[in-house]
Amino acid sequence: MVIRLVVVLAVLLGALVGEHSTAGPLARGYNGLAATPPMGWNDYNAYGLDVTEDLVRATADTMVSSGLRDAGYRYVTIDDGWMAPARDAYGELQPDPTRFPHGIAALAAYLHARGLELGIYEDAGVHTCGGLPGSLGHERDDAAQFAAWGVDYLKYDNCYAGPGCADHSCPDGTEEPARDRYARMRDALLSSGRPIVFSICSWGTGDVSRWAAGYGNLWRTTGDITATYASLLSIFHQTVGLGGYAGPGGWNDPDMLEIGNGMTAVEDRTELTLWAALAAPLVIGTDLVHARSETLTLLTDPGVIAIDQDPLGRPARLVSAADGLDVLTRPLADGDTAIVLFNETDAPATIATPVSAHTVTDVWSGTTTTVNGEIRAIVPAHGAMLYRVAA
Ligand code: GLA
Repeated sequence: MVIRLVVVLAVLLGALVGEHSTAGPLARGYNGLAATPPMGWNDYNAYGLDVTEDLVRATADTMVSSGLRDAGYRYVTIDDGWMAPARDAYGELQPDPTRFPHGIAALAAYLHARGLELGIYEDAGVHTCGGLPGSLGHERDDAAQFAAWGVDYLKYDNCYAGPGCADHSCPDGTEEPARDRYARMRDALLSSGRPIVFSICSWGTGDVSRWAAGYGNLWRTTGDITATYASLLSIFHQTVGLGGYAGPGGWNDPDMLEIGNGMTAVEDRTELTLWAALAAPLVIGTDLVHARSETLTLLTDPGVIAIDQDPLGRPARLVSAADGLDVLTRPLADGDTAIVLFNETDAPATIATPVSAHTVTDVWSGTTTTVNGEIRAIVPAHGAMLYRVAA
């Protein structure tokens, strides 16, 4: 009854704060993959284009020994920078011989032997954002190459979208629509014979959330994240209203985690709290080999991961947002509700939301209490509380 009241309130208040309606269909996936948001690691936020096979192996070892793999982080993705500057004489992509002397297939085997999966990066244009060979016009061959190497996940970027284009833009009228270029790689992956998660990276342009569920398993909702609270907050604002487009098999991607990369401890925790509420892919973007134990403890919190990975796959909705004090709710598969109280502002503030006679667990502390009428907390500046309210 009370839950129903909360849901009704959510719909009404959602409309008031201008949130996107959930009337659109929930994604159900076009390739049977990513029933829950993908979890893993990607080198780009910590290393830029400076990726090597030694780094990937050392990171994989750490993911196993630290418990990250067993917490659910499985995809180890090599971002831009892995390729040699040109295709070989047969037109095939080749890894940079200095950075990846043993090749991609050997790296895939190394990861697979450890219960991990390999992600790789390419681009739906003539060059990658880092200026290396793109896949435009080579989709079939490149998808077949990835499958032969044992790749499990493709992050597909959108730089240099056609001949004559600059990295992020084309002269008017010269760009082939992203949707068509992504469709070609989707079809190539589907016919490659290997299940490969398809990650669309067109930075939220062209209303991608509206169409992407039939094209990829996740799609970026914004430009690149940086390790600042301002970036985190801006990306949260751009993504929170898009929940109606996501669901099992297709997820809004607010970009990789910046946890451990220089934000405060409160902000690090806020990023994971919000990303879990949004049912976002959890892609670690820090130097794991040298990560502090606080970072690993945060990233492996089982209660938070369970909310991110909840099989119902319904992203949170913003039910109120007065003066930068936000309340989000997310229905969960077992009938529980996840509630986030997020203080966007630069000063501590009290945030409250109605619930009644419920068992409520503070997910980060693990403390369970019975509340009568409401959840109320003093939330630190930039902080977010995460509760699980029993059905
Ligand atoms: C784009 C993407 C980033 C990263 C870089 C690599 O900026 O959005 O996530 O892949 O390219 O060059």
